[in-house]
Amino acid sequence: MSIAEKFVSMEYGPAPEDPKEASVWLDRHGRQFGLFIDGAWQAPGGGEYFDTLDPSTGEKLASVAQGSSADIDAAIRAARAASPKWRALTPHVRARYLYALARLVQKHSRLLAVLETMNNGKPIRESRDIDIPLVARHFYYHAGWAQLFDQEFPEHEPCGVVGQIIPWNFPLLMLAWKIAPALATGNTVVLKPAEFTPLTALVFAELCQESGLPPGVVNIVTGDGSTGEALVKHPGIDKIAFTGSTEVGRAIRGATAASHKRLSLELGGKSPFIIFDDADLDSAVEGLVDGIWFNQGQVCCAGSRLLMQESISEKLVAKIRDRMSSLRIGPPLDKAIDVGAIVARVQLERIQKMVAQGVAEGATCWQPQTVLPARGFYYPPTLLSNVHPTSIVAQQEIFGPVLAAMTFRTPKEAVELANNTVYGLASCVWSENINVALHVAAQIKAGVVWVNCTNLFDAACGFGGYRESGYGREGGREGLLEYMEPKWFKQARKLSATDKPVASQAEDEVETSTPAIDRTVKLYIGGKQARPDSGYSMEVRAQDGRLLGEAPLGNRKDIRNAVEAARKAEGWAKATAHNRAQVLYYSAENLEQRRHEIIHRLAGVVGDKQAAQEVELGIQRIFSYAAWADKFDGAVHNPPFRNIAIAMNEPIGTAGVICPSDAPLLGFLSLVMPLLAVGNTVIAVPSEKYPLITGDLYQLFDTSDLPGGAVNIVTGYVSKLLKTLAEHDDVDAIWCYGDDATVASAKAMSIGNLKQVWTNEGRTIDWFDPQIAEGRWFLEHATQVKNIWVPYGE
Ligand code: NAI
Repeated sequence: MSIAEKFVSMEYGPAPEDPKEASVWLDRHGRQFGLFIDGAWQAPGGGEYFDTLDPSTGEKLASVAQGSSADIDAAIRAARAASPKWRALTPHVRARYLYALARLVQKHSRLLAVLETMNNGKPIRESRDIDIPLVARHFYYHAGWAQLFDQEFPEHEPCGVVGQIIPWNFPLLMLAWKIAPALATGNTVVLKPAEFTPLTALVFAELCQESGLPPGVVNIVTGDGSTGEALVKHPGIDKIAFTGSTEVGRAIRGATAASHKRLSLELGGKSPFIIFDDADLDSAVEGLVDGIWFNQGQVCCAGSRLLMQESISEKLVAKIRDRMSSLRIGPPLDKAIDVGAIVARVQLERIQKMVAQGVAEGATCWQPQTVLPARGFYYPPTLLSNVHPTSIVAQQEIFGPVLAAMTFRTPKEAVELANNTVYGLASCVWSENINVALHVAAQIKAGVVWVNCTNLFDAACGFGGYRESGYGREGGREGLLEYMEPKWFKQARKLSATDKPVASQAEDEVETSTPAIDRTVKLYIGGKQARPDSGYSMEVRAQDGRLLGEAPLGNRKDIRNAVEAARKAEGWAKATAHNRAQVLYYSAENLEQRRHEIIHRLAGVVGDKQAAQEVELGIQRIFSYAAWADKFDGAVHNPPFRNIAIAMNEPIGTAGVICPSDAPLLGFLSLVMPLLAVGNTVIAVPSEKYPLITGDLYQLFDTSDLPGGAVNIVTGYVSKLLKTLAEHDDVDAIWCYGDDATVASAKAMSIGNLKQVWTNEGRTIDWFDPQIAEGRWFLEHATQVKNIWVPYGE
């Protein structure tokens, strides 16, 4: 072929990257690897190894140790032993280690990129230009946070020893996302790489040695799911950070429920890729190439659901097919390849099976005429059109180069379809009309929205899901918070049945000014007083045994009604922050007006002194959150691209709250007010000891212009009501204050829709100390960050 002909056909010859350096590295280790524990290599206790392959050929690259539970135990001991010294280092010294790791990643970037591609099958262009530079960026960025730790997070300390489990789709990048923030905040780590792709993590272990990182700070234990399970279940772990399938995420939530391990989960997705009729279609199609064919579609945030405005769908599909026909599929070490190999045979079979199911359900399957390599695991880029929104290929993660296409007519319909999923990891919106794009972005329930761009990541921009895509963020300031806790919280005492709140400890005797009025309250649902479904009530007694009144015994039906009312009140989230602040100030004013009668009634259960304090501090607490309502702003990040990322603090949705027993008014306000301030709706179960507070609270809310349903109160037994709340799929979060057993059941019962659970971990919280019981810590748990990426420039 002449040069002129080549220019016309644009055919590329092969441009293979040389695997020599990686092969030398593998050979130097005799193509067999042990475990990296306490800064040294060890053979696995059980003597077992498994093969790790090159998916582009199916050939073995090396054998890798299968870590047993004894190995996990040894690694955790090493991490525990290293913890005190590591956390006691000055922030600057920790920063220097992270900086050294960033430099070493850059220094060895070619080896890392080649090895990543050999082990995972992703095109070398991606590992070389995206994965490895981002790995270095994460260590640089977090070196900065390590340096600033004491200034920016005074009064915080690391969780301790962290167990981290990562998947195979971005092996070294996921390692960096996990290890960099953990080390920056002073934790030590035991990390388990995915069984298909352990090799670059083992190079990283060597970089830890080369950097002089103290032994035990990073431990790497290879193995399969059983190794991961041993890590999750080990009592010596303070926190688990997991990325992988939603199914395993659920299992981990279950396995950690009865412990006090903190948990962050980054799970699956079925992210919508919305193209409006005014979009720049050629750019959108290029975006789609990155959205679904990047890394063979094995990306948790892949734009796997294409939503096209109906008027352009035919034209767009033609363009997509054209572009698909020019994608080059083949050996991933070839620098001219767009689509490489699928990570493993089992994953290839999973993709084939799901596509067949989609076709059986009515989808039309189109694939370009491509000759796939004879060896290795390959799957062609695939377009499924005429997909019904309920079809398996529209609902479940395929994790392959398969795009499921649907149409919509109006922006409203686009948003409905986009949110018609249990997931909420990412989304793309393509429109030249910035108003439409941002209006849609605001309504999508997902942790990331890319406007006119796709699959951009940066260490400064938090990444993570809504709903069953998990909770917690990786990257940014919010990602760091997952690895630390307030100092006071770590030291807080265990709550016991006999515990009294701090304010009442000074006075053991109950004053005599207890009320004579016998009160009966009702439930408060949808802004109205409601009789309980059961028709039963519970007696409420004073400390001296006198009957104070009766409160309804709420049941499942009442909780369901309350959830429905809370869902209907979601307009509260859309109210302006200024408006929410005013409603809160107004309720503080109303509490002030009723001060004396409430103190009078509350005194019967908690004594005069505490009652007065609860009301006084309650007014102040409401004021605080009214103040915060229009100040808990997000941020604008400047990632190193021509984009800004707008980080919005969004409400989580509908939250179920189990209130503390011993501070009936102040405990309620301390939990419900931060949730309300940022736009959540609430179903609260008030103090079991003094549910009569409900009567005072609904008077307060009724007279404060709070929309009906924004707060609902169901009295009754916590053990019964918690179950319905935690198992309810329309509840997005549970805040539970209680003893160990109660908080464990809150976590265990929330597995269904993977709702966010925040508890006191069975510890005491001094509601009377504003330094502890109010502020950012509460607001951070009441919100989730959505990053909206917006390009600029021509
Ligand atoms: P997986 O969730 O089983 O594996 C992820 C990691 O968890 C691996 O390191 C694995 O060894 C570990 N693991 C497995 N079982 C465990 C357990 N019981 N306790 C602790 N750790 C455990 O994902 P898999 O099987 O590799 O892929 C299956 C599907 O999951 C894919 O087809 C894809 O749909 C989804 N997936 C999603 C990912 C994401 O980033 N959201 C990443 C990987 C897979």
